[in-house]
Amino acid sequence: MFRALITLFITVTWISSAYAQDAGRDDTIDRSATGGAQTLEDIMRRQRGEPVDNSFRSDATGNPENAAGIENQLGTLGGASDPELWRAFRFGSVDITASNNGPAATTLIQDGGMAWLTFRQGPLITNGGLLLLATLGLLAIFYFVRGKITIDGEKTGRTVTRFKTIERFGHWLLAGSFILLGITGLITLMGRKFLIPVFGHDAFATVAVASKWVHNNVSWAFILGLAMVFVMWVIHNLPDRTDINWILKGGGIFTKGHPPAKKFNAGQKLIFWSVIVLGTSISASGLALLFPFEINMFAATFAKLNAFGIPGLFGMAPLPEVLAPHEEMQLSQAWHAIVSFVLMAIILAHIYIGSVGMEGAYDAMGSGEVEEQWAREHHSIWVEEVLAEKASKSPSEDATPAE
Ligand code: HEM
Repeated sequence: MFRALITLFITVTWISSAYAQDAGRDDTIDRSATGGAQTLEDIMRRQRGEPVDNSFRSDATGNPENAAGIENQLGTLGGASDPELWRAFRFGSVDITASNNGPAATTLIQDGGMAWLTFRQGPLITNGGLLLLATLGLLAIFYFVRGKITIDGEKTGRTVTRFKTIERFGHWLLAGSFILLGITGLITLMGRKFLIPVFGHDAFATVAVASKWVHNNVSWAFILGLAMVFVMWVIHNLPDRTDINWILKGGGIFTKGHPPAKKFNAGQKLIFWSVIVLGTSISASGLALLFPFEINMFAATFAKLNAFGIPGLFGMAPLPEVLAPHEEMQLSQAWHAIVSFVLMAIILAHIYIGSVGMEGAYDAMGSGEVEEQWAREHHSIWVEEVLAEKASKSPSEDATPAE
């Protein structure tokens, strides 16, 4: 899980490094013929999509010491030339005072926009969309190969309480908000490409404004649901020895017989931690988008990753530790969308198994009461504990009869 996250993180940071303002130093190009300015090779490298060394430009932003001498053919009378001033704007090193003192007011030029836009309109939509379609396809294949996971033994007609009202409320708050956020997020990301051609600009404008409103406001319900689910269930999701056996037996999905499990089995723990870790990351990057330029996380995170030598493990140059405010926003958007796609794919599998994929599972979140035989097959250790506790409280009473 941790490795998967790191890989994901590295992927997005790799993408970002393509439009980082100052790629790693590269002294292999001879620029003497251009007096230290850009060469054809620099341009060719950029066109080939290779990392471009910009330090020879970002460092030459108006230091009179670097100016060509007056006797030189390209001499500048000893001061900073216009190109140097514009480069200083371009690399964010010019000393600017603006009447608007918002966090991004003094960044007048930032060149990551096109690369970010191209990524957002291209690979992000394509790969994200393919991930969701592939997940749906795999679930359909699984359904046709394995079929519904049925209750093997004879039903007892008795039920056991699996989730209390507050637990189900927390779950449905999280689930309902996530589904709304997923749909409105996809409309925001993909609407221009897929909905405008069908409905036209005017109708899409209304849908887009409504989507944005829902997305921005429902996000709070998601954060609340996430916190509730974490507090209520973390204790049942700590890894223990039963998980190893459960994983070794593949959860009994393709074999007869069910490995013993407590309240949550290893598969569910994986879902729980994915929801918590990815959900928190989506919430943090979402807040950064909701409050533009106020929450900057990437430069600080990159500095930590560099300090641990993580990029080096993947053969990458150190990640940029200084980012323009707009780059922080671009990275927040890319990260928010990528992690959301991954969580949506995981949740599609969860929804499948919690509804059509397994007989008796939905009741746990529907009424909160599950068939005792279902509980014995899927959560044998847990049900024994619950029944023993119940018997100790009221020895004469049996489990609740099903309606
Ligand atoms: C229509 C959509 C959904 C259905 C039908 C559904 C169904 C269920 C069911 C039946 C359970 C209990 C399983 C058990 O008794 O052991 C459950 C648990 C859980 N659900 Fe959902 N769920 C849905 C959407 C979501 C969403 C969108 C999220 C999070 C974003 C989510 C997060 C969880 C978590 C963390 C658990 C506990 C761990 C687990 O059982 O895997 N659910 N869900």
